[in-house]
Amino acid sequence: MKKVKIHWPNKYSSDCSPGVEWLQAAYDANVEIPTGCLGGSCGACEIEVNGEVIRACIARVPNKKEIKVELFSDPYW
Ligand code: FES
Repeated sequence: MKKVKIHWPNKYSSDCSPGVEWLQAAYDANVEIPTGCLGGSCGACEIEVNGEVIRACIARVPNKKEIKVELFSDPYW
């Protein structure tokens, strides 16, 4: 199956299957995405995916060749 190359904010890159939940993909890459409600309503888990803000807890890795992720709201990054 085709893999998506994800570039994480910690300079690490990982290969991931499209359709995997973002929180799982981040976990596999050793990247911590802050979470709150895990239901799509609080916004704690927001990340930027190729410049577009999404809520990681309810989104999945899109079927793209390469993706650049930035953490959106976490002050530690
Ligand atoms: S954890 Fe609340 S919107 Fe994702």
